[in-house]
Amino acid sequence: MQEQLSELVRQAESDISACQNPNDIMNVKAQYLGKKSLLNGLFARLRELPPEERPAFGNVINESRTKIEALLESKSSLIKEATWINREAVSATDLSMPGVYSSRGGFHPLTIVRREIDEVFLSMGFEIAEGPDIDDDFHNFDALNTPADHPSRNLADTFYLEGGGLLRTQTSTVQIRTMESFPPPIRIISPGRCYRNDKPDPSHSPVFHQVEALVVDKGISLADLTDTLSQFAAIMFGSNVSSRIRPHFFPFTEPSAEMDISCVACGGEGCRICKYSGWLEMGGAGMVDPNVFKMVGIDPEVYTGFAFGLGIERIAMLKYNIPDMRILFENDLRMLRQFKGELR
Ligand code: DAH
Repeated sequence: MQEQLSELVRQAESDISACQNPNDIMNVKAQYLGKKSLLNGLFARLRELPPEERPAFGNVINESRTKIEALLESKSSLIKEATWINREAVSATDLSMPGVYSSRGGFHPLTIVRREIDEVFLSMGFEIAEGPDIDDDFHNFDALNTPADHPSRNLADTFYLEGGGLLRTQTSTVQIRTMESFPPPIRIISPGRCYRNDKPDPSHSPVFHQVEALVVDKGISLADLTDTLSQFAAIMFGSNVSSRIRPHFFPFTEPSAEMDISCVACGGEGCRICKYSGWLEMGGAGMVDPNVFKMVGIDPEVYTGFAFGLGIERIAMLKYNIPDMRILFENDLRMLRQFKGELR
């Protein structure tokens, strides 16, 4: 039996080395290790041996089995490797094979619009400033002259974080951070994300984007604000678009205003988009409140400034005729693909 076994292993070795593909491997495996294999037959014949010889011979059979298994395993991985190399060689040389299609991405409409806004203000001599999304009460409220009982501080409106921080509700935080770090003259815009505890609806989203603008120098007046706004509107929406400001209230500006542009859809005649008013709201603005200057150590007797904040979603929706803000965040590929060409 010992001899029969050695012969079996030799035979298996040569059969395995003759294998060319996974199928051959499978057949050889069945032949040598399967239920009806010789090896299994030998196991059955163990009973014919005297009991004291059985364990030793059982071991020998097992060793042969392990050896054949190892040979099969190594041949099988050789075959796999060879197939792989072969496939690479084929695809590297067969020029008639169809190409591998790789889809090219594009920018999100919000990115396109933000970049356009950046360009407009850069061309007017503004610089781009940045601030953190996670900020604190001081930069988001206190330094912006917002009283402790102001409704915007409410838990229902502001996302407070454990440990005392908050997700900024407005990019106005960057006004403070800029004035803390740089002396006037200052002329910055700061585009970025803002967060408010709002339910998503056609005109609200808990995450949205603003562009803040801040200009501080000697002799800055409201006329500088209206002039900047009208230039921005003309470059962004076309020279036939006019702008205006209306009185409003913000804690950090005095006087405060809301900025409108004439309706880009109807030219001011009145339509559904402008709710038949002829005007579209663009954001808040005003002259920097002297209290804000005091908080950052700028002398309000020497310097004046204007600031405004625009909603980027609003501008994107107007520019691309997007009726619902949620469309901008759902990121349906059918919507995004429409902007693929607009690489900027
Ligand atoms: N931060 C204000 C908001 O989110 C918008 C705003 C109003 C920004 C007046 C300003 C400003 O810079 O001067 O509603």
